[in-house]
Amino acid sequence: MTTASTTSAPGTPGDDDPDVTATADGTGTGTGTGTGDIFDRDVLPTPPGATSALLRSLLAPMKARVVLTTTLLLLQQAAVQAGPLLVAYAIDSAVPALRRDDHGPLIAVAVAYLLCALASGGLQYLFFRAAGRVSQDVLLDLRGRIFRHAQALSVDFHERYTSGRLISRSTTDVESLRELLDEGLQELVTVILSFVYISVLLLWLDLGLGAAALASFVPLHLLVRNYRRRADRVYRLRSTAIAAVIVKFVETMNGIRPVRAFRREAANDAEFGVLNHRHERRNGDATLEMARYVVGSRLVANTAVAAIVLWSAYRVADGALALGVLAAAVLYLRRLYDPIDRLGMFLNSYQSAAASLEKIAGLLAQTPSVPEPAAPRRLPALESAHPGREVVFDGVRFAYRTGGEVLPRFDLTLPAGQTVAVVGTTGAGKSTLAKLLARFYDPSDGRILLSGVDLRDLPVRELRRGVVMVTQEAFLFSGTVADNIAIGRPEATREEIVAAARAIGAHEFIAALPDGYDTDVRKRGGRISAGQRQLVAFARALLADPAVLILDEATSSLDIPGERAVQRAMLTVLKGRTAVVIAHRLSTVETADRVLVMEHGRIVEDGTPAGLVAGAGRFADLHRAWQDSLT
Ligand SMILES: Nc1ncnc2c1ncn2[C@@H]1O[C@H](COP(=O)(O)OP(=O)(O)OP(=O)(O)O)[C@@H](O)[C@H]1O
Ligand SMILES: [Mg+2]
Repeated sequence: MTTASTTSAPGTPGDDDPDVTATADGTGTGTGTGTGDIFDRDVLPTPPGATSALLRSLLAPMKARVVLTTTLLLLQQAAVQAGPLLVAYAIDSAVPALRRDDHGPLIAVAVAYLLCALASGGLQYLFFRAAGRVSQDVLLDLRGRIFRHAQALSVDFHERYTSGRLISRSTTDVESLRELLDEGLQELVTVILSFVYISVLLLWLDLGLGAAALASFVPLHLLVRNYRRRADRVYRLRSTAIAAVIVKFVETMNGIRPVRAFRREAANDAEFGVLNHRHERRNGDATLEMARYVVGSRLVANTAVAAIVLWSAYRVADGALALGVLAAAVLYLRRLYDPIDRLGMFLNSYQSAAASLEKIAGLLAQTPSVPEPAAPRRLPALESAHPGREVVFDGVRFAYRTGGEVLPRFDLTLPAGQTVAVVGTTGAGKSTLAKLLARFYDPSDGRILLSGVDLRDLPVRELRRGVVMVTQEAFLFSGTVADNIAIGRPEATREEIVAAARAIGAHEFIAALPDGYDTDVRKRGGRISAGQRQLVAFARALLADPAVLILDEATSSLDIPGERAVQRAMLTVLKGRTAVVIAHRLSTVETADRVLVMEHGRIVEDGTPAGLVAGAGRFADLHRAWQDSLT
């Protein structure tokens, strides 16, 4: 059951997300690929200003280093751009001096040239080092933030935002930022800087030359602008397409068991093939766009150089322009136009990084729908004679973000220390009740009180200590069996861990594992069965010693003796705690103090097990059917 539910993710009602903006890609829907409309939901709405605020907050702690890096680059560029100027000087002044047998100017030029080259090399090295540190720190910080934030977001968010998309945020998107920071940004800034330097130098050398070079920027600018507009679209489509490939991959591998069980391989192959091809086509579109741009920009640049050289040559012949200045101008023009085809590439990496940053900012701007209280209240102290807590559902209404109301109006009081069994048909709302009590969600209306305190007013830590839920999907984290039990109470000693395992009947199987309690549950030999996982989850809950324990079909994978052992342990160790036990097996229910029968989000029967069996209601029918099945 657990695994079967994972494949249904794309179609579940919870997946529908009305308040998320659509991307430009209209092709995501209607392809029948089965991945649904992840296309138009890849981007969460990013509040205006969130992206630049994120960037500022990432760079703020390293302001000094950013200034240093920029200064290094400015100096390095100055050293680089001095070269052609020195050539002009050599031609126009040093050579005539040489003719007069004066070697001084030429030697000075040669030395200056060498010094500039050395300085530019040294400065570049320092710049790379400084820039590398800045980018590493930014990425480190960003990855950490994504993880912490995603982990802190409510269950409700994770039901809508698939893990595939989270993974693509922290991999593909962070990677595209890394590309920009490590490769593109420095080049982009260098190009812009050299444009400024060269334009100023050309204007200074010769007003006419400078003006001509500046004039050539007009068609180039138009070309770049046109390219960026088109590239923006194709790159967006491409990133959406690769995200779809990743999502499909992750989803399939997560649900590999049902995939096998239902022989979905061929269908999945076909679906993946469609997505894979779409990505390939998008990639092709992007390359083509790039090629058009490169050809266009070279054409403009070469025409400009030819025209300027032609015009300047006439001026040199007329004596209006020094030969050295023409030489320097040609060198500068080459430097000016050479990086233009790469400029397209840098702008792309800049653009895709900007898009990625926007997506990350959108994720980081999500606030938990189950927030920490602004003014937290403490729970009253427990009396040791009554280690349980009273639970009250006071006029609770609840609907999932999508879909109709699951609990229409729910009132229920569980006195401290009572063990309540909840039974009812599939989809009646039992698990919803349990999740509300554990505050995975907040009610749409009404309140849930724990010892008189609204769950929304409780600090999350206190709530987690006081209310523990065990479900059928007993999840084990990587680590040892002991670590997994100790999650219930991290400060517990080994003796306490073993005692909890013994009480629950898990000690025997754990002791038989290759390394006993120190067996790594994810390593070879550490594999444990579904029932054993549930036992570990129970030991964890027992160790946590909560005031309220919720079991949602938590014994569904245990055999009858195993279930009995767990029940006995619960009855003795958790004596006096408030317990909500959701179960389909009536054997589990019989030990409860009280039974609730739920239908369509309402309680239709409420009484002691014996009382209900004696009556003529649904529970009595269920019980009779169960009795018949035993004989
Ligand atoms: N995450 C969710 N998003 C949207 N709807 C949900 C979600 N979880 C449950 N529902 C809907 O809420 C209703 C009650 O579900 P719930 O899981 O509480 O039932 P249940 O009584 O625990 O059933 P079962 O016996 O099968 O476990 C169902 O109609 C279900 O489709
Ligand atoms: Mg359920």
